[in-house]
Amino acid sequence: MNKDVNLYIMKIFIDSADIKEVEKYISWGICDGVTTNPTICLKSGVTGGEEGMKQRSIEIARLIAPQPLSVEITTDDAEQALNQARKYNTWADNISVKVTITDKNGGSLLPVIYRLVSEGISVNVTAMMTFNQAILAAKAINAGLAKTSARKTHFISIFAGRVSEEHGVEQAQKVLKEVRQWLDFHNYKNIEIIVGSVRTPENVELWSKSGAHILTIPPEVLAKCLVSARTKETVVQFLNDASKAMQQL
Ligand code: E4P
Repeated sequence: MNKDVNLYIMKIFIDSADIKEVEKYISWGICDGVTTNPTICLKSGVTGGEEGMKQRSIEIARLIAPQPLSVEITTDDAEQALNQARKYNTWADNISVKVTITDKNGGSLLPVIYRLVSEGISVNVTAMMTFNQAILAAKAINAGLAKTSARKTHFISIFAGRVSEEHGVEQAQKVLKEVRQWLDFHNYKNIEIIVGSVRTPENVELWSKSGAHILTIPPEVLAKCLVSARTKETVVQFLNDASKAMQQL
């Protein structure tokens, strides 16, 4: 067996807060979870402030339960972040609260992450670009897990597309692979790597073999993954010949 076979383990999350898109990919049988963030909510037409976000989150969480829905907090102030995360966590059993690894000035939000995990709240540490950020997030999660009997899955989101824009796709691949090796080497449990910022079908193909547990894919990229001009041509040929064959019966 290929010794790199564990690099292929992968689930697909839908990177969208659009109900119709989520329903579509559930009906395709390929939705293992959903991720959102404030930008995605805006793009998906979520209105009505926090109440609007709550209603949309509850609706998506219900659609995909028991699979996870990531909902991002809207503050980078540590105290407010804790309170907001605790509140969002009550919206549904399958919510994972997204917290950025640092605040806008680069200040650590690891205390928030550690605390939330220790309270039994599932956390998705987001907006990470580097190996160092990811392993520090994993350590904080692991320390939080040691303080609770709750065994929820936690996530570390590496924004591979944004890494690629600056350093190339291979660098993103390297970060993902090394973080996975690090998690496995230390036998960390209940922590899964999400590949974020997926931009193209080529990204999907490359990062499916990166060691990440999950790729979160925007609907428009996911739709493109299915289409091939030669497949369409082949289907036309089959349909034409099927109709000729039927006429000969
Ligand atoms: C997923 O969890 C992320 O929020 C998302 O993939 C970010 O992608 P972006 O780089 O397009 O903002």
